[in-house]
Amino acid sequence: MKIAVNAKELAADGACAFVPTMGALHEGHASLIKKAREFSDTVVVSVFINPLQFENKDDLAKYPRTPEFDIELAAQAGATHLWLPTVEEIYPGEVQKISAGALGDIYEGVKRPGHFDGVLTVVNRLFELVKPKWAIFGEKDFQQLTLIKNMKSDVQVIGSPTIRNADGLALSSRNVRISDPKDALVIYRALMAARNEKNIDDARRVMQEVLASEKAFTLDYAEIINESNFEKASQNDESKRAIIAGWVNGIRLIDNMPMNGGAQ
Ligand code: PAF
Repeated sequence: MKIAVNAKELAADGACAFVPTMGALHEGHASLIKKAREFSDTVVVSVFINPLQFENKDDLAKYPRTPEFDIELAAQAGATHLWLPTVEEIYPGEVQKISAGALGDIYEGVKRPGHFDGVLTVVNRLFELVKPKWAIFGEKDFQQLTLIKNMKSDVQVIGSPTIRNADGLALSSRNVRISDPKDALVIYRALMAARNEKNIDDARRVMQEVLASEKAFTLDYAEIINESNFEKASQNDESKRAIIAGWVNGIRLIDNMPMNGGAQ
């Protein structure tokens, strides 16, 4: 694996599949890199903690940084190029922010104003510099994935399923900060309980009941949405997804799962 000195080196190496990350890589990222290999023999991984998408400076300061481990994991997962750009390389002058529009203001956007503008701005900039043909993002950040898919670009944006640990906890760089990971499993239990209900009102009710049963969990939101527009889903909508966000041991976690109306 090449450690790229600058973006010019990456763009010179032909049509690539791209996995943008903020580092603290884990098996979830490894699965994105493996997916990228299905599209191209050239897989570029970037590690850049984007200050524009942190509305909370404390969260930015505490974001885990594990560069040596990241290099190791990216190489083992099949990345051919790793790029760790500086803030100056990504944002050399005045930043032209991209607006995420109305979809950026709901759910994750309510508690994190400007977050998705920051995400779209950096992704657009990374696309400009890396010039990938494909880019892979995890479904775990489903609202982010949808917004990036909706963003105007020549890059084919591909979603990749959430990777969970043996207990069902969705892998996330934030998990290392949870003092008792068992407390976080309530999110998975709530998603599974909702998924097993045929009726959407019952699914919403059981999801709330399960979440309320865990004292260590503080709810931000739990809803079943229509995947195509993020509106509250109706029973007959084709693609429904449960989305949950909340706090466990002072750490904010999000997760989601497609709803299959009780089918196994
Ligand atoms: O999902 C992430 O890690 C980040 O939001 C992304 C897409 C790399 C942009 O900084």
